[in-house]
Amino acid sequence: MSYDWLQSSLKTIHKAGWYRTPRTITSAVGNYIEVEGKQYINFSSNDYLGLANDSRLKNAAIDAIQSHGTGTTGSRLVTGHRVLHDQLEQNIAALKSTEAALVFSSGYSANIGTIAALMGKRDLILNDQYNHASLRNGSALSGASSLDYQHCSMSNLREQLEKHRSHFAKCLILTDSVFSMDGDLAPLSEILDLAVEFESMVLVDEAHGTGVLGRSGAGGIEACGCTNRPVIQMGTLSKAIGSLGGYVAGSSILIDFLKNRAPSWIYTTALSPADTAAALAGIEIIRTEPERRDNLWHNIRLLQNQFNPDQFNQTKINQTKIQTFPSDSAIVCIPQPTVQDALKLSQHLQNSGIFAPAIRPPTVPTSRIRLTLMATHTPDQIEVLSKAIRSHLSN
Ligand SMILES: Cc1ncc(COP(=O)(O)O)c(C=O)c1O
Repeated sequence: MSYDWLQSSLKTIHKAGWYRTPRTITSAVGNYIEVEGKQYINFSSNDYLGLANDSRLKNAAIDAIQSHGTGTTGSRLVTGHRVLHDQLEQNIAALKSTEAALVFSSGYSANIGTIAALMGKRDLILNDQYNHASLRNGSALSGASSLDYQHCSMSNLREQLEKHRSHFAKCLILTDSVFSMDGDLAPLSEILDLAVEFESMVLVDEAHGTGVLGRSGAGGIEACGCTNRPVIQMGTLSKAIGSLGGYVAGSSILIDFLKNRAPSWIYTTALSPADTAAALAGIEIIRTEPERRDNLWHNIRLLQNQFNPDQFNQTKINQTKIQTFPSDSAIVCIPQPTVQDALKLSQHLQNSGIFAPAIRPPTVPTSRIRLTLMATHTPDQIEVLSKAIRSHLSN
């Protein structure tokens, strides 16, 4: 009786077309993947630089297991701290040009722990309406008053600050640098200007920016020329870096404070030696092989050209444009009017040998196909993708 509501709740999820279940990947990851035994071109990975199956990351993880074991067996403040954590934190701080950094078990726990540590009942949090769930859930957990501003609208952010800022002790503005389900970029420089004007802090989620944006791959903050401005940068080790875990980078005082106040860092077992060592190797490759980022951007431009053929290119003059959300990153989304339309397009792509699942509510407000590019995609694979989408649209 007490648990019957679960069944009816699941029925409602099914009815709305929102039911989801994981698909089993049966191969190593790369620009091809095998899903439940069938091979597809992979356009749905966050492994932007193709590092998650790189032999250097794998060997670093294996070596770390051989010398340190599989688990860290305790929290960082008790028995979990290793020299590998120090090295990783120093290298993240060097990549980000910050004084210090702190590694968490995931990007999700970095966000919820940091926001809950910094903010409380007397404070105000302003979230871009399209922010990642971990920023929103961290806001709720902190007990602060949390309001949304319209997506990337600096006039709306200013309005909210003018109206509410003076009623609260501290204020924190939260934004993704690359919006994870859209692919567009936050106007970081303007957000930082408003933060100065209204005596507020800013936390930027660089989950999809690190390794992808900026001359050295430091992310959106570097790309917009804001490296030395006061800002809290967080990110994940699980996307372009190719491992698992999350981080916060900023001033030494901030990091010292989080070590004493962030519950999701204090009360959890330290990141495993394998994940830590793989992340170290990933960051080293980001530092020393900028050509990977160049390849990724070459592929992003190639896809944009395929979707929006140049009118002067006679060979493609009759091709229709493929509509996408505005994007300036490795994430490109094709809007779909309904959940069913998104599922149909995803199925068509799968029948054409392409893996690109539909993203639906409640993850996003409207349905879409979310495509992600990797440095390792080939021009042929990108052409197969755009042909498959066009053949669906022309039916
Ligand atoms: C924007 C954003 N922030 C945070 C996270 C959480 O990172 P992690 O997967 O390391 O928990 C993700 C994705 O997973 C993300 O897309």
